[in-house]
Amino acid sequence: MAYYRSVGDVPPTRHTQHRDPEGRLYREELMGEEGFSSDSSLLYHRGVPSAIVASEVWELPDQSRTPNHPLAPRHLRLHDLETGTDAVTGRRVVLANNDVRLSYVLTGTEPSAYYRDAIGDECVFVESGSGVVETVFGVVAYRAGDFVVIPRATTHRWVPAEPSRLYATEASSHVAPPKRYLSRYGQLLEHAPYCERDLHGPTAPLLQEGDDVEVLVKHRTSAGIVGTRMVYATHPLDVVGWDGCLYPYTLNIDDYMPITGKVHQPPPVHQVFEGWNFVICAFLPRKVDYHPLAVPVPYYHSNVDSDEVMFYVAGDYEARKGSGIGLGSISLHPGGHAHGPQPSAIENTSLRTLTSSTSCSGRSAGRSSTAASNACWRESRTGPRRNIWC
Ligand SMILES: [Fe+2]
Repeated sequence: MAYYRSVGDVPPTRHTQHRDPEGRLYREELMGEEGFSSDSSLLYHRGVPSAIVASEVWELPDQSRTPNHPLAPRHLRLHDLETGTDAVTGRRVVLANNDVRLSYVLTGTEPSAYYRDAIGDECVFVESGSGVVETVFGVVAYRAGDFVVIPRATTHRWVPAEPSRLYATEASSHVAPPKRYLSRYGQLLEHAPYCERDLHGPTAPLLQEGDDVEVLVKHRTSAGIVGTRMVYATHPLDVVGWDGCLYPYTLNIDDYMPITGKVHQPPPVHQVFEGWNFVICAFLPRKVDYHPLAVPVPYYHSNVDSDEVMFYVAGDYEARKGSGIGLGSISLHPGGHAHGPQPSAIENTSLRTLTSSTSCSGRSAGRSSTAASNACWRESRTGPRRNIWC
């Protein structure tokens, strides 16, 4: 994220002495990506950010996978899934590969454990609920429809104000806006479906007190994904100020401006973020395709390099009518097998008059109060990512 922010108390010159009113030196920490070669921030701690008193095994919730064999499309119903109530340890992994893991949780109202994901960035979609995420950078408020992007290795915890349905994309890489929407210096361009004003990061430091504070760390070893419980001598959320281009932020789906077309538009126009070997899209209510002979549902398609996962959040997805798909459903269309709309959906939408502007290109009919129709996550299984249609 190349959008610079400065929060709290930072010295005028980097890497110079920065002291509290009693003259004690703050500890400067550079948190940066790609080995000092990409986005970073400088954080000023009251305590020593590396001081731990213990490191123990944290037994992760079940991370095992079941092969999709024999090959078949799948329908998962997340609202029927039993999860824990902790926003971190209560997550259930529902789909995964080496590039990304999708998990789901219905939280209670207790704060989660302190946690950081050292494998990659997390992009957590808030299906419902509200609260805050307390991070080492400060507090980020969340509400229904938010994508909450938390950079790799950011210590944080979720504090729900009400039970919250959270759909987490845990990447093995970073998550960022699509490159084609960025200037060569990183500014979001005019044709992007959202801009910097829509990104909401921390606005003030969060200073916590405490000794022997536990933080759960998800990380990798030669044995695969594992967990460690690290105990810090002083509270890790002790940053008096920071500045830079690396920080957590939210983007609400209501602020995403859908792109429309005369004929059916492919999913890349709905893209919100990208990571290594996957993209995240949002299919929202929008003006129906307006060619006189438009078929405002997707054509059948085979994405030979990709699996497609759709999570149905709100509204009524036209292309899946009659399939049993409902709110809280996930559809998985694996690579190696063609897919497309229900045949009845094609007939119904072909006959529709083209002035029906709330029937949105077969993606959803009618605008819900939350505006979030569905969020789609798609993933390339091998090689470079290719454009893929949903
Ligand atoms: Fe598709």
